[in-house]
Amino acid sequence: MGFGLGASLFEGAGVRALRQLRVMPSFAGDLLDPAQSHGDLLVRVAGEDAEVVRKAVADIKAVAARTGWAVRWSIDGFRAENRVEGGRGLARNPFNFTEGFGNPENEREVADRTLVREGQGEPEWAVGGSYQVVRVIRFATELWDKDSVHEQERIMGRRRDGRWLDGAPVGEEPNFAADPKGRRTPLDSHVRLAAPDRRNPPQLVRRSYSYDRGDGDTGIIFSCFQRDLAKGFEAVQKRLEGEALAKYVLTTGGGYFFVPPPCDAWIDALRDGGPGTPQ
Ligand code: HEM
Repeated sequence: MGFGLGASLFEGAGVRALRQLRVMPSFAGDLLDPAQSHGDLLVRVAGEDAEVVRKAVADIKAVAARTGWAVRWSIDGFRAENRVEGGRGLARNPFNFTEGFGNPENEREVADRTLVREGQGEPEWAVGGSYQVVRVIRFATELWDKDSVHEQERIMGRRRDGRWLDGAPVGEEPNFAADPKGRRTPLDSHVRLAAPDRRNPPQLVRRSYSYDRGDGDTGIIFSCFQRDLAKGFEAVQKRLEGEALAKYVLTTGGGYFFVPPPCDAWIDALRDGGPGTPQ
């Protein structure tokens, strides 16, 4: 179980607020539903057994009701083919692509990208904590399925199983410099825009869940952690504007939160947590 604090929680609380925490803005193409966005407190419940997770969520909701906290929104998630390979947590998303390869394989690098440090201008109590971004992203799976796998792979910039389009194996780096016009890996593909400079990887760690609410309302509960929102999520999100993937996805909710220290438990979960029900 994990908690994240929303910007609204700090209003009038008399605590020195965080330098970067604010209500998540609407980015290009977003259609944020206020009833599925933001909030004072994010509660994330995850586990191997969906029934146990559901029971825990019901208990938390009951406690919330007794103590006067209103549940603003909640969503169930799962990770298809959830597994760990080479130190990275992997899962298959509703577009049938495996996600997680771009995350760091070792714990030290995970901590380096995600945990707030001394000297970052954040209050003392926040050192060792992490900014969490949640985005409920709906997938146009019918439209996606009309494209061939080859076209889909050019939109993502990787093969479905993670291999690079220039032939580099999963665990190695592609040579984008040798492909300046994007013949092998299109310039507007997801990974090429997300991480153009292979020596300076994006300063975030992702761990998303799939969701399926029926009637075609399926997609991912994108979630990422970083120690600096502007250098982490926001820098990547801005680069992704105009990507080929944009017409197949729509962000409808989510929020910015701050996970207070200690974060050891969720760092472990980032690497090997099971399927579950984040709230
Ligand atoms: C819109 C729905 C999205 C889908 C379907 C998607 C899917 C993928 C896939 C399949 C990969 C390649 C495998 C991997 O490295 O995990 C990937 C990589 C990545 N994605 Fe996304 N993603 C989405 C949204 C986002 C968002 C919102 C961000 C951040 C703003 C993001 C950031 C990244 C990063 C940083 C990488 C790793 C790039 C690398 O190091 O090569 N993605 N994504």
